[in-house]
Amino acid sequence: MDLATLTSQLRALGEEALPKIAAAPDLAALAELDVAYLGRKGGALSGLMRGIGQLPADDRPRVGVAVNEVREAVEGALASARQRTAQAALAARLAAEAVDVTTPGRPIARGSLHPISETISRIAEIFGQFGFVTYEGPEVESDATNFQMLNIPPDHPARDLWDTMYVDIDGGLLRTHTSPGQIRVMHAERPPIRALLPGRCFRYEAVDASHASEFFQVEGLMVDEGTNLADLRGLLDEFAHAMFGAGRATRFRPGYYPFTEPSVAFDVGCLVCGGMGCPACGRTGWMTILGAGMVHPVVLQHGGIDPERYQGFAFGMGVERIAMLRHGIGDVRIFLDNDLRLLEQFR
Ligand code: PHE
Repeated sequence: MDLATLTSQLRALGEEALPKIAAAPDLAALAELDVAYLGRKGGALSGLMRGIGQLPADDRPRVGVAVNEVREAVEGALASARQRTAQAALAARLAAEAVDVTTPGRPIARGSLHPISETISRIAEIFGQFGFVTYEGPEVESDATNFQMLNIPPDHPARDLWDTMYVDIDGGLLRTHTSPGQIRVMHAERPPIRALLPGRCFRYEAVDASHASEFFQVEGLMVDEGTNLADLRGLLDEFAHAMFGAGRATRFRPGYYPFTEPSVAFDVGCLVCGGMGCPACGRTGWMTILGAGMVHPVVLQHGGIDPERYQGFAFGMGVERIAMLRHGIGDVRIFLDNDLRLLEQFR
């Protein structure tokens, strides 16, 4: 080995290495080239350097300079190639994972309260302002709680008012009204009582636009000393005005329920014609929205309350009727159909 051969081999190594480095596609390829040319053991440059020992002492420093030049050139090329491939990789990742922040968001589907639930909330809100607390009773009641304790004995003709569906659970029945809740609240609380009892009721009905065999009622019960019919009238007037507008006409008509005495029907001026008389109100100008009355002393006794000391009034309203009047809905069956095209209109 002489100086000229070694120098030309060094130059050849540089000329071979630099274009390969420039063409390397990625960091892995560059790492391989690094080992192949600059590796301490087995690298091409180390191989050439082994020849230095065979040169005359005078020539060695010059070869050392040439070796360093080649090493620096290769190292420099590797460094800039690493930077280039890192930038290219980053650019590729940015392009692949790009997020278009200007894309409009997907709409979030929002549900809404069923008009029956929404109407019950509104009723509870209005009576809540008068101190009425909301309770709930079971949908399966017994003959005792649904009828007998409400002063409706087994063979009483008033049972014809409620076409009852019986179930095979402990001689039970599906409650025909929310009134059994009166008995439950009287057993659970001491007077003064102001209770509101919303819930689903069941009757064996021929289903049509104004009758369903499942429907909702809200029962109200107040028990205190000195409670009277004028209190009931005043409270129901406030309710009707809050629910249907301040100028709404109201009236009591005599009614009959075995568990209230006296009993009344509470009417509001027709919401469709305003009192002139139209098909919606049977040309009377009035719409009945609830039944009510002073709690019968026998019912107070069944609730464990002394009728000599306490009086009370109760009322029961049909929620569908009120929801229909509020929203101008003409058919009760839509409340059970769960057709979103209809329900979405009452958000
Ligand atoms: N429970 C009666 C019905 O379903 C309504 C009512 C409740 C009447 C409370 C008077 C007092 O028709």
